This record gives sequence, C-alpha cells and structure tokens, in this order.
Amino acid sequence: MKILVTGGAGFIGSNIVDALIAKGDKVSIIDNLSTGNKKNINPQSAFYKADISNEKKVFEIFKKEKPEIVIHEAAQIDVRKSVLDPAYDAKVNIMGSINILKAAQDSGVKKIIFASSGGTIYGECGAKAPDENVCGNPLSPYGIAKFSVEFYIKFYWQIYGLKYTILRYANVFGPRQDPFGEAGVVAIFAKRMLAGEDIFIYGDGKQMRDYVFVGDVVNANLKALTKGDNQIINIGSQKAVSVLELAKIMAEITGYTKKPVMKPKRAGELFKNFLNCAKAKKVLNWKPQYDLKKGIAKTIEFFDNQRSKE
Ligand SMILES: NC(=O)c1ccc[n+]([C@@H]2O[C@H](COP(=O)([O-])OP(=O)(O)OC[C@H]3O[C@@H](n4cnc5c(N)ncnc54)[C@H](O)[C@@H]3O)[C@@H](O)[C@H]2O)c1
Repeated sequence: MKILVTGGAGFIGSNIVDALIAKGDKVSIIDNLSTGNKKNINPQSAFYKADISNEKKVFEIFKKEKPEIVIHEAAQIDVRKSVLDPAYDAKVNIMGSINILKAAQDSGVKKIIFASSGGTIYGECGAKAPDENVCGNPLSPYGIAKFSVEFYIKFYWQIYGLKYTILRYANVFGPRQDPFGEAGVVAIFAKRMLAGEDIFIYGDGKQMRDYVFVGDVVNANLKALTKGDNQIINIGSQKAVSVLELAKIMAEITGYTKKPVMKPKRAGELFKNFLNCAKAKKVLNWKPQYDLKKGIAKTIEFFDNQRSKE
C-alpha cells in the first residue's frame, strides 16, 4: 500500500513508519522537524521536509506521492505551549490538519487515520473510564484543536466520502520519545534516573494517567489500515497509574535510589485520566500486548543504549 505519514520523523510517527516499511508498504513522510529528529527517519521512506501549514507544498507532495492512506501524526504536541499561544496551536493543529484533509480529498486518498488525544479530549475522569460515547470536554487549546479536527474529519467523510479512523491515544510512552520535552514523563524520568539526576513530581504525585506503550499504538494504526472505518476509538491500557507508582516502578528497574523532589502542583493539571478501550478490542481486535513494566523495561533499555552512544 502507498501510505503517507505526517509527523513521520517524530516519536510515534517514526515507529509507525518503521512498522509499515517492515511489512512492505511504500511510505512517504511530511515533517518539518520541529520536534522530530532526522535520526528517526527511515532511509527507505520518501522524506519531505515541509510544514503542514503550507497548503501549496502539501498539495504538491500529495500530487506527487498519490498515497492511498494517510496517517496524520504531525502536530504541535505541547499542551502548555497551546495555553500560551493558542493561535499557533490552531495554525498547526487545526489549519494544518485542514490542509491535509483538502489535499487528501483532492488527490483521491481513500482513508485517513488521525492521532487524536484521549488524554485531553475527555477532561477530568471520575471513577469510570470514559468510552467514546462520553461527550468531550477539552480544557486546553490543544485538546480543543484535536476535538475540532475530529469534526472536520467527519465532515470530509460525509461530504466527500473520505473514510477515517480516529484513534484517541492515552499517554503514549516508549523508545524515541523526547526526554527534554514537557510531555512524556516516562522518557523524562528514564533519562534522569539513568543519569542519577533528581526527578521532579508536581503536586502530591497522586495524579493518575493511562500509559500505553508505543508498540501497541503502532499496532492499533496497522489494524486501522483495514478495520474501524468511520469510527472513533480509544487506545490506552484502561488502567490509571499514579506518578508516584510510575516513579517507583521505574526506580526498581533502573536501580535509582534518590527520593523524588516534590514541587508545587501545576495549575490546570488533571487529577485523573484513563480510557475505556472495549471498542478497540471489538472493532480493531486490538488490545495492548505490553503491560506497564514490560513497556518501561523496553523504554529504559532504549535510553540506556542511547547513553552509551553519547
Ligand atoms: N505522545 C502522546 O502521549 C500522545 C498522546 C495523544 C496524542 N498524541 C498525538 O500523536 C501524534 C504524534 O505525537 P508524538 O508524541 O509522536 O510527538 P512528536 O513531537 O514526537 O511528533 C510530532 C511530529 O510532527 C512534526 N511536526 C510538528 N509540527 C509540524 C508541522 N507544522 N508540519 C510538519 N510536521 C510537524 C514534528 O517535527 C514531529 O516529528 C501527535 O498528533 C500528538 O498530538 C500523542
């Protein structure tokens, strides 16, 4: 299959590209390398350094590549940046996504798979993990943008017949995640614990998240190539784990002995977020293959190998 992956030099996108190429697909990438890394680019892909906000350029690439399927991962991913600069967030995450949809429709793409965000669309979760029927209540411009794009995608299906699968990821972690970014606590802790540096926890550390390993997210995307048409599907572990528990598990694996440095709570941070993933099992025949410990061990192994190369 001919597949175009936006954000294919990034953490999740590059892992998807590698899996597609390994199974024999012909892959092209659009990425502006703002947070992506040249080292992640699979040499067997056709790489275009381009910004999804540049409509003309996006159209040119789609005309040349004529993909059958688009996996749209490119985004401004920093929630805090979206709060500070909602217009920039909307420019990339809404306007850029509209460019991708327009070019896809114009060049005869059959289906788009979109990286949405279960971690921000549902807002604060109670005792029960929300399924896809729970109404969205995003609290950040980033979440608002992701939610809006879902409606544009549905519009392109209804009006132009462009099929879609929207995957609402929980907190994704694994090899290649940026350990210097604002998101990605597993990558940040891994890098700092391996270097014997302090780790920081904001608030009381009891805030809970649903952590899903990148290999499982890749697998969900592969399944969505042929399944889950015109569906919104949560992709997570369905388990809520506190930051304190996470730090404990990671300390055990790395042999880290320092106590976390506790910092004041960050304004606007959610207390609990986790996802009901029954639909993914039913519609995509997907369930996570990595439990938290196994995924963390893989991630630590990656960062440890990287350290020895530095
Ligand atoms: N990591 C998570 O926990 C998580 C959770 C939910 C959703 N998502 C979504 O998954 C997708 C991938 O995220 P990631 O964690 O791999 O982040 P990432 O920053 O590693 O990947 C994003 C990629 O998009 C590229 N990019 C950014 N702006 C661009 C632009 N204007 N034009 C072209 N390319 C651009 C970056 O260079 C990068 O390679 C994003 O859409 C993100 O919103 C991630």
